[in-house]
Amino acid sequence: MDWKGRDVISIRDFSKEDVEFVLSVAERLEEELAKKGSLDYARGKILATLFFEPSTRTRLSFESAMHRLGGSVIGFSSASSTSVKKGESLADTIKTVEQYGDVIVIRHPMEGAARLAAEVAEVPVINAGDGSNQHPTQTLLDLYTIKRTFGRIDGLTIGLLGDLKYGRTVHSLAEALAFYDVELYLISPELLRMPKHIVDDLREKGLTVHETTDLEGTIPELDVLYVTRIQRERFPDEEEYLKVKGSYQVNLSTLKNAKESLKVMHPLPRVDEIHPEVDKSGHALYFRQVFSGVPVRMALLGLTLGVLEGV
Ligand code: CP
Repeated sequence: MDWKGRDVISIRDFSKEDVEFVLSVAERLEEELAKKGSLDYARGKILATLFFEPSTRTRLSFESAMHRLGGSVIGFSSASSTSVKKGESLADTIKTVEQYGDVIVIRHPMEGAARLAAEVAEVPVINAGDGSNQHPTQTLLDLYTIKRTFGRIDGLTIGLLGDLKYGRTVHSLAEALAFYDVELYLISPELLRMPKHIVDDLREKGLTVHETTDLEGTIPELDVLYVTRIQRERFPDEEEYLKVKGSYQVNLSTLKNAKESLKVMHPLPRVDEIHPEVDKSGHALYFRQVFSGVPVRMALLGLTLGVLEGV
C-alpha cells in the first residue's frame, strides 16, 4: 500500500496489515525520538489543524507530532474565529486551507464531514473525529497502547464501558478489534447500547461479543476495561441525558475483584466515570495512552506526507 497522499477517515478503510504497519512505524519513531530528541523528516511541510469542536489531546498531540517531525503547524481551534462564521461552506474552507498546508487534520460535529473534506481536498485529510461516527487516530493509539503494554492484542478479553451509543472512540475501536482474536464485552446502560448494526457486523466477522449492563460482574473476566464519558453534547434531548447521567463509575471498590493485571483505559476527557483514586493504582493506563498519541500521529503524518523513507 502506497501511503503517500492517503486519507485517514474511517477504520473501515483499513486492513489489519495497514493497522499493524502504522503501529510498527510508530514504535520505530518513538525509539528514534527517544534517542535523538527531535527528528526532521517533515522539515518544510505544514500541517493545517481545523477543529470545529473542542479538543485538548487530539489537537495538541497532532501539533506536537508535527513539531517533533521537524514540520510546522497552522490552524484554528474554534470555527467562531473563522469565515465559517460568515457563512463559508466546509468545501470552500477546505479548498482554501489546502493552498496553505500539505496535510489537513479535521474535527467536526457532523458525521461524514471528514469524508467530504477528503473528497474536496488534493492533500491528505485525517479525521480527528466526526460527530458520533469515527475517531480512527484514537483507535490506532489505543491499539498501540494495548500492544506496548501486553505485547499482543490477540487472546485478550476487552470490555468497552459507557456511552457505546454516541461514543465515536468505541465505534472505531470495536471495528478495529474485529481484526484480532479477542473476546469483547459491551457494558452499558440500556439507553446507551452499541448500535445494532455495529454489533451485528462484529459478530459476522467472527468476534465473540457479549452485551451486558453488569459492570461489577464482568470486571473479573477482563484484561482491559476501556471506559468512556457520556457524550452529553450528542444527546438530542437533555431529558434523555439526565436518565443516564452518573449511571456508572469505576473506582477502587468496583475494581476489587479485577485481575491484578487489568488495565483501565479511557480516551479522556473524563467527567466522573473514573474516580481519581484509580489514577495511582497499577490499573490506570489512561495517561500512558495519552502519551501514545504522539508517536502514532507522527507515523500517520509522516506516512501520508510520504516523508518517512528509511524508517
Ligand atoms: N481523546 C480525545 O479525542 O480527546 P480530546 O477531545 O481532548 O481531543
